[in-house]
Amino acid sequence: MEKVLSRNFHHAQPLDLATYRAGGGYDSLQSIFGRDREEMVNELRASGLRGCGGAGFSTGLKWSFLAKDAPRPVYLVINLDESEPGSCKDRQVLYRDPHTIVEGVLASAYIIGADKAFVFVRGEYKVGAAKLEKAVQEARDAGLLGDNILGSGFSLDIDVHLSAGRYICGEETALLNALEGYRANPRSKPPFPAVKGLWGQPTIVNNMETVCHVPSIMHKGAQWFQGQGQNGGSGTHLFQVSGPVKNPGVFELPMGVTARELIYDHAGGLLDGRKLIAFQPGGSSTPFMTPDQLDTPMHFDAVAKIGSRLGTGGVIIMDDTICPLKYTRNLIEFYARESCGFCTPCRDGLPYLVHLFDKFELGTATAADHQTILELCGLIGPNTHCALAPGAVMPVQSALQLFDDEFKKHIAAKGCSYSPVAATASQAAAGAGVQGGHH
Ligand SMILES: Cc1cc2nc3c(=O)[nH]c(=O)nc-3n(C[C@H](O)[C@H](O)[C@H](O)COP(=O)(O)O)c2cc1C
Ligand code: SF4
Repeated sequence: MEKVLSRNFHHAQPLDLATYRAGGGYDSLQSIFGRDREEMVNELRASGLRGCGGAGFSTGLKWSFLAKDAPRPVYLVINLDESEPGSCKDRQVLYRDPHTIVEGVLASAYIIGADKAFVFVRGEYKVGAAKLEKAVQEARDAGLLGDNILGSGFSLDIDVHLSAGRYICGEETALLNALEGYRANPRSKPPFPAVKGLWGQPTIVNNMETVCHVPSIMHKGAQWFQGQGQNGGSGTHLFQVSGPVKNPGVFELPMGVTARELIYDHAGGLLDGRKLIAFQPGGSSTPFMTPDQLDTPMHFDAVAKIGSRLGTGGVIIMDDTICPLKYTRNLIEFYARESCGFCTPCRDGLPYLVHLFDKFELGTATAADHQTILELCGLIGPNTHCALAPGAVMPVQSALQLFDDEFKKHIAAKGCSYSPVAATASQAAAGAGVQGGHH
């Protein structure tokens, strides 16, 4: 497997344009400029590249939705909001190799025929956004951005936009509202952004990692990309592992690597004396997987087949020192706080779930509360305007199935029997994991 996205991560500082180009950077443009756009979209479809922002939708298929005679201007918007707990992959490329982003945006913009590109960066990634700005300026100065790039007749500029904050800004239509200067409420779909997006114009929204795969696919071919994956997956992916493991971090590995290889070989396995209870495979909105599912290939279809979601490939570990109810409660608290407030089931339902979980911790819960959590998840999931709330209840529904005995124990014991000291130490390790660097 060839490292693509993390190939320059060993350098202490992001590469300047000259050094990046000396290593083959921007060479992909030779394979892209002048080539038939439809043919390139077909090649992308054949490569098996799927969106890395969480949903795993075929990138080539999404791009094919853009009408050939789409009214101008057409926009490309890159989602670098990365606010899902457990997800920290895009940040690595932003801080360590911003020219890889510029090249990915430029290649993708050419293929879809975009007139302008925007990179929407998570508000806390301020330093990273400045690094990207610098790379964009270097590209402008070298004629890689601007009018008639390298004599191709194609013109493009990239605007780096630092978010004002909030998780919901990562939802693609809320992101478009935020970019336009409005409150970040999700829009109704349809119309999808490819038809009516930024300022009402046709817009393709993609995750940052997704577009960074495009140059090498165009340069080396769809078959090469497929061959980079394993066990039915295509290409590589920036997997992340956080929580009580020896070597938390971000790892570029074949799509389809098993969860066991990822957690034990690359992330070093659990801290000494800890036992794996469960893990979330793709960020905090994905249903739990269990130790008997460790041999599942980490690609979209295989993880979906066992009832979870690959999401962003950000694995979060739950060990035997963490109360599963407390763990789950913390997740819902995040989603309750980040609700945009537009629809009632999410705005009022998620805080009520937190309240119910608190009753289990405080020892006042009854079997009726357990039932209410179950029913509330069923009501919230399918009745909201965007995917934030369904994503929030997925781990709760999976916790209800997996940790049924824990709910009962909390009722019988009138509270939580987990040692608060052990839980605090474990949570500190989990926090360190999310901060962890690339390995
Ligand atoms: C609440 C919420 C937050 C999201 N946050 C992000 C994010 O931070 N980054 C991202 O790429 N996609 C995020 N998504 C998914 C985007 O809506 C969209 O599907 C994605 O940017 C499409 O790009 P892709 O096809 O390349 O994955 C989020 C979705 C929801 C519902
Ligand atoms: S589900 Fe939540 S975040 Fe999404 S629109 Fe409704 S209130 Fe807003």
